[in-house]
Amino acid sequence: MADRIYYPNAELAKTAYCNSMDQYKKMHEKSIKQPEEFWSEIAKQFYWETTSSNDKFFSYNFNRNEGDIFIKWMEGASTNISFNLLDKNVKCGNGDKIAFYWEGNDVEDYSRLTYRKLLEETCKFANVLKSKGVQKGDRVAIYMPMILELPIAMLACTRIGAVHSVIFAGYSSDSLAERVLDSKAKVLLTADGAWRGSKLLHLKSICDHAMDKVKSHGHNVESCIVISHLRRVTCPPGNTSDGGKTKNGTSNGSTSEVNLSWDDDRDCWWHEEMEDADSSCYPVWVAAEDPLFILYTSGSTGKPKGVLHTTAGYLIYAATTFKYVFDYKPNDVYWCTADIGWITGHTYVVYGPLVNGATSVLFEGTPFYPQNDRYWSVIEKYKVSQFYTAPTAIRSLMKFGDDLVKKYNLDSLKVLGSVGEPINSEAWLWFYNLIGHGKCSIVDTFWQTETGGHVVTPLPGATPMKPGSASFPFFGVLPELLDEDGKIIEGEGEGYLVFRQPWPGMMRSLYGNHERFQTTYFDKFNGFYCTGDGARRDSDGYLWVTGRIDDMLNVSGHLMSTAEVESVLAEHAAVSEAAVVSKPHPVKGQCLYCFITPNEGKNFDKQLQDELKKKIRERIGPFAQPDIIHHAPGLPKTRSGKIMRRILRKIAVGDRNVGDTSTLADEGIVDLLFQLRPEA
Ligand code: WT7
Repeated sequence: MADRIYYPNAELAKTAYCNSMDQYKKMHEKSIKQPEEFWSEIAKQFYWETTSSNDKFFSYNFNRNEGDIFIKWMEGASTNISFNLLDKNVKCGNGDKIAFYWEGNDVEDYSRLTYRKLLEETCKFANVLKSKGVQKGDRVAIYMPMILELPIAMLACTRIGAVHSVIFAGYSSDSLAERVLDSKAKVLLTADGAWRGSKLLHLKSICDHAMDKVKSHGHNVESCIVISHLRRVTCPPGNTSDGGKTKNGTSNGSTSEVNLSWDDDRDCWWHEEMEDADSSCYPVWVAAEDPLFILYTSGSTGKPKGVLHTTAGYLIYAATTFKYVFDYKPNDVYWCTADIGWITGHTYVVYGPLVNGATSVLFEGTPFYPQNDRYWSVIEKYKVSQFYTAPTAIRSLMKFGDDLVKKYNLDSLKVLGSVGEPINSEAWLWFYNLIGHGKCSIVDTFWQTETGGHVVTPLPGATPMKPGSASFPFFGVLPELLDEDGKIIEGEGEGYLVFRQPWPGMMRSLYGNHERFQTTYFDKFNGFYCTGDGARRDSDGYLWVTGRIDDMLNVSGHLMSTAEVESVLAEHAAVSEAAVVSKPHPVKGQCLYCFITPNEGKNFDKQLQDELKKKIRERIGPFAQPDIIHHAPGLPKTRSGKIMRRILRKIAVGDRNVGDTSTLADEGIVDLLFQLRPEA
């Protein structure tokens, strides 16, 4: 079943924007050979205050021998993103269309927002930001749960040309502080708290700690605007923590309020600021290459990278990928389960859907609350037609058996999407057969924070699918596979996945560190953007992404670096050295496997292991908690002192075939580490 080819449903293909491989190939070829013509045709659908001239539409340099790396699209053009997403939709008759159905953590909590109302709220909040002194180019940090104020806040930034930096609300206060400090954000937006399943997140208090830390490093967050979220939602049954009171007199749920600490000079309530705010706000026209947002992603050195996306190119790429990859049609309801704190949420919860005038579901909760069938019940409730999620979620839901799924009517589904890591064929087939009833196309979308949007993906009405293959490049994308020496691998083969030329949505720089941008992505292979992933091309030309080939880990779709985890572990007073590798995990894809060398005289015991796990949770975030901590009296190192992670990965999975160990300073260490395997 896994090596079969699955053809797009004929019904779907009939009306699809791209409905055959022939059409795909023609469009792709044009996008590569005549990028200016291809993308300027698409750009005509949007509003430009000033336009770009043909000779300045596209320019770039991918070769460091020829100077600095740069990528520019639509030079000379100016626009406003919120105007294209909101005013334009309202003007062309979509004012009363639902932009978002909001589905809260609790099934009792839901609401909706039309395009007209979204425009109004965006303008009001843009005026609030202005009243706090935010100007074009200023950074606004956002640490929020999945609530309607989050897209409103992002769009309000774009309204006035401010640069948003959304930080996933699962990050610890240290991680938040590091990101706020790096971007020198003037304002921080948050909520008092939020429920995730039956767990309460104290968001404002995490922000307080982060702002203290930022201050001690000499930067001041001038305003912190707080949404009073907890009072309007139902808290989990039996959980009236923090002095909760009953909502509507019902007994199964209650609202809760937490005690917040408050700095009157800095902190204010969102609803109070919004009360008198003007509901119109003239858009600030920004240049095509003006920054739109910063989004931090893990870097292999441990310090997060502020990926910088700009205006015009990102807009047309988000719009085009959303339209073609999900084949969104006017009456569809689309649902992407990703948190807006990740790039998937930026491009495919906020920008892509809204620029296409789509109706989406914005979901605050988890797949497991109140029961493990929440996803299926939400699909039935809103008659979702496109459902976009991650392999790790699929695998974790497969465990609960098929009956939970079969209770629901999922007939509305047309396209299923997967993102975040390679999808194994077992999960693919379950998704295809059980969720999609064998009639939906699966789009396995490969991309990165850096790429801004999908770069290798099937098109649902055109591409014959092979389970586990992301298949072919999207328009404008020209992938190559390179060997270690940078030689291009033609035809079948496996190598480094790189791209030869820019597409409009790719990153432009790392915030405040263009040099790091150049060395990270362009130094390894001159003339190519290097993804850091490996890939294989089969005899039919399909691409199969095999995973990271640098020191990065992908745990449940969260990318992190070994260095980042190691440096936190090594801070513990009892730890002399730490080395972290990934180990395959049935649900998370990969999990963290940590080798710890304790200091002389320090015990390696359960207490130390628990302390280390706690430290990682607190310093990075709960999603980074290690699964295994392995006692390592020594580490396999080369004579020059480099840790051989290749060997550690073998030890982690218990594979005695460790290969050549002759370059090790002490070969005996390998045997010792096998003996100390915690699972053995
Ligand atoms: C890394 C990027 C792009 C949104 C989510 C993650 C891995 C992502 C796939 C896929 C195989 C994938 C890669 C990539 N990845 N999608 N469909 N097949 N691998 O964004 O945090 O920037 O992570 O996720 O390793 O480099 P990110």
